[in-house]
Amino acid sequence: MKTLRVNLIGREYDILIEKNLLAKTGELIRKRLSPNKVFVVTDETVDALYGKTVLDSLCAQGFDTKLVSLPAGEETKCLAELSRLYSEALSFSITRKDMIIALGGGVIGDLTGFLAATLLRGIPFVQIPTTLLAQVDSSVGGKVAIDVPEGKNLVGAFYQPKLVIIDPEVLNTLSDRIFFDGLAEVIKYGLIADKGLFEKLEACDSRSELSEWIDEMVYTCCDIKRAVVEEDELDTGKRMILNFGHTLAHVAEKEYQYKTYTHGQAVAFGMVAISEIGEKLSLMPQGIRERIRNMVLKFNLPDYIELSGDLEKTIALDKKNEGAQLNLVLLSEIGCAKVHKIPLCEFVKQLN
Ligand code: NAD
Ligand code: GLY
Repeated sequence: MKTLRVNLIGREYDILIEKNLLAKTGELIRKRLSPNKVFVVTDETVDALYGKTVLDSLCAQGFDTKLVSLPAGEETKCLAELSRLYSEALSFSITRKDMIIALGGGVIGDLTGFLAATLLRGIPFVQIPTTLLAQVDSSVGGKVAIDVPEGKNLVGAFYQPKLVIIDPEVLNTLSDRIFFDGLAEVIKYGLIADKGLFEKLEACDSRSELSEWIDEMVYTCCDIKRAVVEEDELDTGKRMILNFGHTLAHVAEKEYQYKTYTHGQAVAFGMVAISEIGEKLSLMPQGIRERIRNMVLKFNLPDYIELSGDLEKTIALDKKNEGAQLNLVLLSEIGCAKVHKIPLCEFVKQLN
């Protein structure tokens, strides 16, 4: 089993990565933590595939368990479902000595993490991510949130899990659309922090080739995220580099009401578009955009999304920005990110 330790003083935790770990959930928790009750949150798709494996493993260790299964999809990351979870957990008489498990993709991870952060002012929680995006990104780092009508992830907290259990075997049941969606974030990690990872992705042509080294891929990405989060847990500096390609991705997702494009598809486009601007402004070496473009097209991700809304207004509303200044994440080379401040109006001019 591969293990990474996230060293945040007082909030340290392990990330465990190995195929078929799901069936060992109970013993992995028993070894490290001592809850009486375990409240599991999942979605209906993941429940049908993996709910029983996790529950059986918890029951085998004598935990008193309750599982709540929510509809799959982004709409579930909302106040109404959160409210339902508060009631379900309280009717299970959960206490701060117990534990909550998020079993699913980023939607379940974010929602359940926010439940854990706020119920009884904080209950320990474990992330068991089941999408590629959740395994390489959302389950690590403690960003938890729900969506509100005004926007995505606008109500949230930083609340680190006590443990992250990653079983790459579960990725085999993902549709191609969801698998390659997560791969966009893997490509991003290569671009911002690991040239070797990017080149290894360049050498692969299919999902089956990628699957041959999936454990290593997940480990490498989690290790990059671990290092960034250790340096900047609360997202005031270095963590910004994880946002490479995300400025325009957020605009695209919003313009198409989070329906037409997945987050990863929007990020793929965003990485190509921002590199084009970076190269045009001579802030990035020439040729990187073309390599990113070839990569995203190879993995069925879009290199272009038509944007027509009020870009300046949408970008200005992004919670990462500081007023009229935009923090542009660019690459000084493949494997090395940098942040460049640019006036928002100047950036928008480049888009037109
Ligand atoms: P998701 O959780 O909606 O999962 C996508 C789909 O895959 C769902 O239909 C789900 O039921 C299905 N699924 C999950 N695991 C499966 C499996 N093993 N086999 C078959 N189907 C499976 O979406 P996601 O892409 O995982 O996460 C997106 C969410 O993550 C967004 O809400 C985004 O805001 C959030 N996010 C959070 C962070 C963070 O740092 N907290 C980072 C990135 C994204
Ligand atoms: N997904 C970006 C972050 O965790 O900061």
